[in-house]
Formats: sequence, structure tokens, C-alpha cells
Amino acid sequence: MTHRSDTLESFLRATAPEPTPLQREMAGTATELSFPIVGPVAGGVLAQVTRLTGADRVFEFGSGFGYSATWFVRGGATDIVCTEFDEDEVKLGRELVAEADLDDRITFEYGDAMETIERYDGPFDVVLIDHQKHRYADAYDAVRPKLSDTAVVVADNVVRGPLDFETLAAHFNDGTPLPTREEDEGTWGIGTYLTRVRGDADAETVVLPVGSGLVVSVVSR
Ligand SMILES: C[S@@+](CC[C@H](N)C(=O)[O-])C[C@H]1O[C@@H](n2cnc3c(N)ncnc32)[C@H](O)[C@@H]1O
Repeated sequence: MTHRSDTLESFLRATAPEPTPLQREMAGTATELSFPIVGPVAGGVLAQVTRLTGADRVFEFGSGFGYSATWFVRGGATDIVCTEFDEDEVKLGRELVAEADLDDRITFEYGDAMETIERYDGPFDVVLIDHQKHRYADAYDAVRPKLSDTAVVVADNVVRGPLDFETLAAHFNDGTPLPTREEDEGTWGIGTYLTRVRGDADAETVVLPVGSGLVVSVVSR
């Protein structure tokens, strides 16, 4: 079973979209810094979602130095708001994006994403939630009134990352209670997020087990 999922993982990576020179450079930087990025398989899905919906405006909660943003550019988005509270990431992101002449399409906002979203009106066509796991549901609630009529909200790290996937799966499989936030912030955060979006009557939600696991919600008004 493990062998099979390793094969699947490497197959998905081998058949992922070819990275642009900027994406290749950013992926190299991520490896050097051991920085978690969505990677080319999940990135390809972000580009496809953007292209399929004709999305222009994107808001990201937790952008690092902008790797995921480059996939939204690749999908045709023209206005991507990146948020990041680590000053070094913002500095690096601004440099890389300016070198690639993408600074007219990608804007870095330094500070807490939950405060930055309050300064924006929307409407946003696509949203990526990839910051602190215990704040995912709050991010959804904050951006929900700022979505365009039909929008896509994607959240990362639902099967891998700072969470206990076995515990998360048990909760949704057979109702085993989630750990409390105090016990396990990551698992609680992702479980609470999934419950929130799945309970939104105007949203259709599917988990895609690509990259670290994406929760994709199509939200209609
Ligand atoms: C997983 S990384 C983002 C990776 C990025 N989406 C990509 O794939 O290229 C998460 C980032 O979110 C940032 N972050 C976490 N909580 C945040 C918050 N509340 N506001 C702004 N940035 C935050 C972290 O500093 C980190 O750089």
C-alpha cells in the first residue's frame, strides 16, 4: 500500500506541468530553505482552477515568497494579493517577482493576513488559504462576503503538514471526536475548516489528494 502510494506520488510529480524558469528557481529556493510550498502538482490544479473560471482577482492567506502566486499568474489571473507576516519572505518575494516583471500582477502585503483581508473589498474570484491551520475557518468567514458571484476557495494541507491525518480521517469516517485546539491545533484547525465549508449550503466541497491535500470549495451566492 505504501509502495503504491509512493509510486502514485512520483508519477504525479513526473507528469506535473513543466515549471517556468521562475517556478524552478523558487522551488530550488524552497528546497534550500526547507520552506513548504504547494509544489507543481497542486500548483497545476491552482492554475487550472484559475483558467477554468476565468479568474482575475486572487487573495492568498499565507504566501511565503510567492511560489503559489506564480501558478495563479499561469492560469491567467491579473491581480494576486499575497499576504505574509514574515518580513524576509516578503522581501524575497518582492525581489523575485520584480525580476520576473510580475510586480504589476502580484502584490505583497506585509502583516497578518487576517488584518490585511479587512482592508480589501473584493470581489475575489479565487482564494488560497495556506497560513496558520487553526485560523482557516476564520479566514473563510472573513473572505466569504468578499467573493465574486461564483468563486473557488482552496485550502492546503488537509492530508499532510502540521496535522495528524489518521485522527482527522477517523473523525470524518466514523465520528471520532476531533482533538481540542489545545491538544492538537493543526488537526483541530483543518477538521473545523472542513466542517465549516461542508456545512455551507452555498458551497460544493471536494478534497483532492494532490500535493499536501487541497480542499476545493466552489461557492455560489
Ligand atoms: C505554507 S507557507 C505558504 C506557501 C505558499 N502558499 C506557497 O505554496 O508558495 C505558509 C506561510 O504563511 C505565513 N503565515 C502564517 N500565518 C500567517 C498570517 N496569519 N498572516 C500572514 N502570513 C502568515 C508563514 O509565515 C508562511 O510563510
